[in-house]
Amino acid sequence: MTRFPRSRPRRLRRTEALRRLVRETRLDAAQLVLPLFVRPGSRVRQPVEAMPGVAQTSVDEMLRDAEAAARAGVGGVLLFGIPARKDPTGSGAWDEKGPVASAVRALKRDLPDLVVIGDVCLCEYTDHGQCGVLEGESVANDETLPLLAKMALMQASAGADVVAPSDMMDGRVGAIRQALDAGGHAATAILSYAVKYASAFYGPFREAAESAPKVGDRRGYQMDPANAREALREVQLDLAEGADMVMVKPAGPYLDIVAAVKRATNQPVAAYQVSGEYAMIRAAVERGWLDSERAMLESLLGIRRAGADLIVTYFATEAANALKSGD
Ligand code: PBG
Repeated sequence: MTRFPRSRPRRLRRTEALRRLVRETRLDAAQLVLPLFVRPGSRVRQPVEAMPGVAQTSVDEMLRDAEAAARAGVGGVLLFGIPARKDPTGSGAWDEKGPVASAVRALKRDLPDLVVIGDVCLCEYTDHGQCGVLEGESVANDETLPLLAKMALMQASAGADVVAPSDMMDGRVGAIRQALDAGGHAATAILSYAVKYASAFYGPFREAAESAPKVGDRRGYQMDPANAREALREVQLDLAEGADMVMVKPAGPYLDIVAAVKRATNQPVAAYQVSGEYAMIRAAVERGWLDSERAMLESLLGIRRAGADLIVTYFATEAANALKSGD
């Protein structure tokens, strides 16, 4: 009698029907969030060179992209603004007539069921490109907090469902929560970029958002890529200050962190597949080295499997459409 092991894992891989039945992780378009870059003007669509398929757009053009996303089933959009003018304090960030304010209003008018998230950070608005106001060479933490709170309050007043601070100042979640509550916006949620690393993978974004620092870098406030335990401390602090959801960024090179954060909290966990992760896949696809759809979906599935509930990704619309035609 042959004594072959009784276990044959291949039994459940035999047909697509069986594979589908025992699949542990699924991608759902409703959990994808599409970042959008909004600039002043109308009928403007300015492609971002290092991110094929991504463009800076005026509000009218942005609405077309948001409609396509909503039609595909994408759950939400994340807004970044490129102001007409930059200054040392980033005052365009709380401009009620600026591109982000108009974008939020237009989205809530035309696509009320699409979740609108406003990115809260000064780097697109300051002339020096740092994420807060400067004191000498370094970013002054406590002086930056009221400005971030003002920016969040403006977005909430325009109708944003969620505000997402990405600046990495200490105490900003608490400052924003307080300002929102005092301003009559207790229902506006905070998605904190709790765990944001000082990453090389933000390179293409800085072209898209025109936000590269003029001098220095962001290592004085963003996290050291070597640190994992510190990620959990950041998460604890932000939750204690009132964050409703926490985000890990970047996603792909930090899947261990996504998994650890997931174990550490019962609040929803988001992960941001950043511009460099997107650009790498796009570039390899352009050269014929990777299959576009499979690489895109596998990269997103990996992030979900690690524990992310929602994923911010430049692939959102494309992935949502691929999921529709897939099964
Ligand atoms: C900062 C911000 C950055 C990203 C999102 N918010 C860049 C940075 O910190 O330099 C990066 C997103 C991406 O690379 O896709 N406001």
